[in-house]
Amino acid sequence: MKPIKVGLLGIGTVGSGTYTVLKRNQEEIMGRAGRGIEITMVADRNVERAREITNGECEVVSDGNLVIANPEIEIVVELIGGYTVAKDLVLKAIANGKHVVTANKALLAVHGNEIFRAAQEKGVMVAFEAAVAGGIPIIKALREGLTANRIQWIAGIINGTTNFILSEMRDKGLDFDTVLKEAQRLGYAESDPTFDIEGIDAAHKVTIMSAIAFGIPVQFDKAYVEGITKLEAIDIRYAEQLGYRIKLLGITKKMPNGIELRVHPTLIPAKRLIANVEGAMNAVLVNSDAVGASLYYGKGAGAEPTASAVIADLVDITRLAAADPEHRVPHLAFQPDAMMNTPILPMSEVTTSYYLRMQVIDQPGVLADITRILADLKISIDAFLQKEPQEGEVKVDIIVLTHRTQEKNIDAAIAKIEDLKTVMGPVTRIRLEELL
Ligand code: HSE
Repeated sequence: MKPIKVGLLGIGTVGSGTYTVLKRNQEEIMGRAGRGIEITMVADRNVERAREITNGECEVVSDGNLVIANPEIEIVVELIGGYTVAKDLVLKAIANGKHVVTANKALLAVHGNEIFRAAQEKGVMVAFEAAVAGGIPIIKALREGLTANRIQWIAGIINGTTNFILSEMRDKGLDFDTVLKEAQRLGYAESDPTFDIEGIDAAHKVTIMSAIAFGIPVQFDKAYVEGITKLEAIDIRYAEQLGYRIKLLGITKKMPNGIELRVHPTLIPAKRLIANVEGAMNAVLVNSDAVGASLYYGKGAGAEPTASAVIADLVDITRLAAADPEHRVPHLAFQPDAMMNTPILPMSEVTTSYYLRMQVIDQPGVLADITRILADLKISIDAFLQKEPQEGEVKVDIIVLTHRTQEKNIDAAIAKIEDLKTVMGPVTRIRLEELL
């Protein structure tokens, strides 16, 4: 059988990794796929660089439309990123009857429903293992490996840049801005790191996992997103003293009245395996009824780890290209007519525990006022820490860990605590998950 022909849109870091790994491991890959997989055409704005990488072995063009129009190409790999050109080319590739492999989480989290519908109608596949957690095969695990299970919740460290920054802040006691600059200097963080540090990249990824886990459409617009820019080194220290680490988690949970979908800094017990995922590594913890907890760990970014996921999709498509659409693994795990319209819950209805830090005047009755406010709102206290005041100071830091409550109760409590004359400045709130 002749090799299946693949066209690459974009040959940057992941594209060149894909080219290299496909060539290096071609024998094993062919043995597994049952047929050769060959990149025969590449589109990239930097034609010169693309020619260097591909060493004159395939056709290089600057316009992605030429790849889409090539009747010999059966699979298009989209590695351009972003929502505009990428969306246009993916939809055109589908309309031309080509299968698509993409690493573009932003595109799928925002426009996935339209793209999957188009693919279903046209009978082609859109594969996206590389879009979530890079080299970790989490899409396959959720969609196929755990298919017998009712998934209860997923909590993931799914952004390497922010995990690197948090690890450095904790290890070296440095503040966010200093570590971000260092991360940029070392090439861990992009020159415009907004998507990473504001939690948007993680929210794209958890949106996709939520859809697969719970059989709902992708709904990025309903995700709660809070990044790490406001996190202070002092909270990382206090959390540690209380036996917790702070991680930026992407969380999605099935609740009786809907689905929680959120990204925010989270205290987690330091003894959990996932709390010990350091540096730029990724990990996804899945809790499901039959298996219980299962943890998936690995490199969430980089040329070859992401290429590994892209090529796994190429192999899947090569194996399944002959199967009719009804007999392929559905894009979002559930057959289109079995998708549910379970609502995504607003943040006010999310239930979790909290870390609250406040600075108070050290005088009688302050604690009583604070605990009264919490008790009136039926918020139970789990732990309490009062720091010694600095020499000559009357202000002290108080840290309260609460048991689980709804976010709207904590919002109300914080507003009341901030109104107390003895409480200085705003209350710092970080959510806490036991992940049990
Ligand atoms: N920028 C992402 C990260 C990798 O830092 O993990 C690509 O999604």
